[in-house]
Amino acid sequence: MTNAQRHQRFAVAGGTGQIGLPISQSLAAAGFQVTVLSRTAKPSSDKNIVYTAADYSDESALVEVLKGHDVVIDALAFTAILADQDLPKRLARATKKAGVKLFVPNDWSFDMERVAERNDIAVHPIANAELDYHKYLQNELKLPFLGIWTGIFTAYVPMLLSIDFDTHTASFVGKGDTPFISTGYGDIGRFVAAAFTNLAPSQLENRTLRVVSQLKSPNEILKELAGKLGSGEFKQDNMSIEEAKEKASNVDFSNMFESMLPWLKLVAETGNGGGENNDNALVHFEPKESIVDTILADRRAASDKQ
Ligand SMILES: NC(=O)c1ccc[n+]([C@@H]2O[C@H](COP(=O)([O-])OP(=O)(O)OC[C@H]3O[C@@H](n4cnc5c(N)ncnc54)[C@H](OP(=O)(O)O)[C@@H]3O)[C@@H](O)[C@H]2O)c1
Repeated sequence: MTNAQRHQRFAVAGGTGQIGLPISQSLAAAGFQVTVLSRTAKPSSDKNIVYTAADYSDESALVEVLKGHDVVIDALAFTAILADQDLPKRLARATKKAGVKLFVPNDWSFDMERVAERNDIAVHPIANAELDYHKYLQNELKLPFLGIWTGIFTAYVPMLLSIDFDTHTASFVGKGDTPFISTGYGDIGRFVAAAFTNLAPSQLENRTLRVVSQLKSPNEILKELAGKLGSGEFKQDNMSIEEAKEKASNVDFSNMFESMLPWLKLVAETGNGGGENNDNALVHFEPKESIVDTILADRRAASDKQ
């Protein structure tokens, strides 16, 4: 594939964030032109990255900012969407009006299509919203989209397993033997750049791709973590599957995380967070990040800050 055949100009909404930054940097390193949309513009030291101020509440201003791009990637904070629930549709409408060819929605999670297809646990409203949004993009707005499922970000595994280093405990659901998918921030960035480098635009439309850094069970992670810490085993105080189902079904829109966390644990324990197939090989991507090494590095960084 020649450069002329690839998408070349990318706008990354939230391109300063945990995944937005590595996505922007990996695309820039692969030679693509990247506009990072941020609420505050700043100078760039990378010749392939430009920072542009964006007002996400103003659709026509967004249209102007997005004109001239081939792809818009939504990597905005979840809190941005909670604070302004029309934001995803506004950004997509502006993308369409600006004549952009492809939109990457804010999926970046367990594979919600798989959860809906397997249909063995109730689908949380947040997951439903992601799937409805795909339908909106494809059927209503007619804006080609590429969704990317990442599993749990490796940095969020301690939260998923409720790891407490002070008490040396963890809390999960069920037995903790089922492997789930987790992907690191850097691997997400490299996967996105590999997909746009190695797949033709026609292979990227109206579909989803699955990236995986590692597929491990809670027990495997806790054992490896204890081994690398040179400590004893983490004591586990796990919820039953029934208890998790009950908590996950208690959805309070003013405090979404209360039901989301037990639901995510449930997704992982019931095998919904795994999957036989991923698209690492399809996009010629080799993952580099390890769940346990990320947990340990984040812990060292947090203690260096104190
Ligand atoms: N799979 C998982 O485990 C997992 C975990 C966490 C998140 N996620 C998903 O990944 C997405 C990105 O997460 P992230 O952690 O990379 O995001 P993040 O770093 O928290 O935020 C990304 C950017 O969003 C912008 N932003 C923050 N608050 C905003 C607001 N109120 N209005 C407009 N812009 C705002 C900020 O950019 P500026 O300050 O430069 O404007 C920030 O750098 C989330 O939306 C969520 O869907 C998945």
